[in-house]
Amino acid sequence: MIPTLAWTPNGVRFIDQTKLPLEESYVLATTYEQVAIVIETMVVRGAPAIGVSAAYGIALGAQRTTALTPHLFAPEFDAICARLAATRPTAVNLFWAIDRMKRLFAALLEENATLEQIKERILAEAHAMYEEDIAACRTMGAFGAALLPDQGAVLTHCNAGALATCGYGTALGVIRSAVEQGKRIHVFADETRPFLQGARLTAWELMADNIPTTVICDNMAASLMRAGRIQAVVVGADRIAANGDTANKIGTYNVAILAKEHGIPFYVAAPWSTIDIATATGDAIPIEERAAIEVTHHGGKQLTPDGVGICNPAFDVTPAKYITAIVTERGVLRAPYAESLREMELVAN
Ligand code: MRU
Repeated sequence: MIPTLAWTPNGVRFIDQTKLPLEESYVLATTYEQVAIVIETMVVRGAPAIGVSAAYGIALGAQRTTALTPHLFAPEFDAICARLAATRPTAVNLFWAIDRMKRLFAALLEENATLEQIKERILAEAHAMYEEDIAACRTMGAFGAALLPDQGAVLTHCNAGALATCGYGTALGVIRSAVEQGKRIHVFADETRPFLQGARLTAWELMADNIPTTVICDNMAASLMRAGRIQAVVVGADRIAANGDTANKIGTYNVAILAKEHGIPFYVAAPWSTIDIATATGDAIPIEERAAIEVTHHGGKQLTPDGVGICNPAFDVTPAKYITAIVTERGVLRAPYAESLREMELVAN
């Protein structure tokens, strides 16, 4: 399995996703500040992966504290959480993981746990999130596989694979599961400008699994759809609002509109940690604006003239009306999402 991130006795080890596919190298974060930088610089990326990375960052911060008592550690705990929360604004999994750690810490203070017990329980919680994420990917993979054709091509955008999770993937988990069931699936991977998660990461991990994959430029999907060469679209998500509006990598919205126009089903696969019931619609989802250099340069080479204006939103919002189904580890949800999401939230809690 692709080792996206792993806890080690010396810190948290990440495969460096900025270097793939040309170089398979690893970065060891030995402090929570280094984990924050690893998230900001996209060494690790993908909503579920950054959530669990933040959880391990908090565990690392707790392990390294020089505070002598839980109450002396409390302000440091808050500062660690605040630093990690400031890394990337769109994927709600980050805030979900940090909130879960905050609730645990408050309960441990309430129980009068010792600092040693707090360190152990925080690390155990991070491990639990890691394992739950893989299990959720496997379950949503099994649910989603049934939606894919027995034989046909599936388009995906960005990387919602093992590299974006703790393993197996969300959208790519659905594809993997279909292939494991014997379905003959060909994957079209949008290259996903400007960071090229599709061309670099999705292509790399699907090839490692021998799943037939073709990379296309982001502007090619319409023509392939019109030619009948794509039978379904599956993407991941960074945040799903209470009405089903879905934030995902910039360009996802384009693909959703194209799919609707061509009568092709458009599926979103995401764990429940990506559902943000507290955010009413996609309009309220914060969209990260990343540095202009990601657009002006590639591989250290300048592509655009000096001084030209640059716009680089990292995500867009696909309105719920374009989404055929949302695949989660709790089941496959259909429109109207405001109702199906609320019902599933109530059933599970
Ligand atoms: O900017 P990134 O690479 O973190 O964006 C990732 C995506 O948009 C993924 O599709 C999303 O996080 C789902 S990952 C299972």
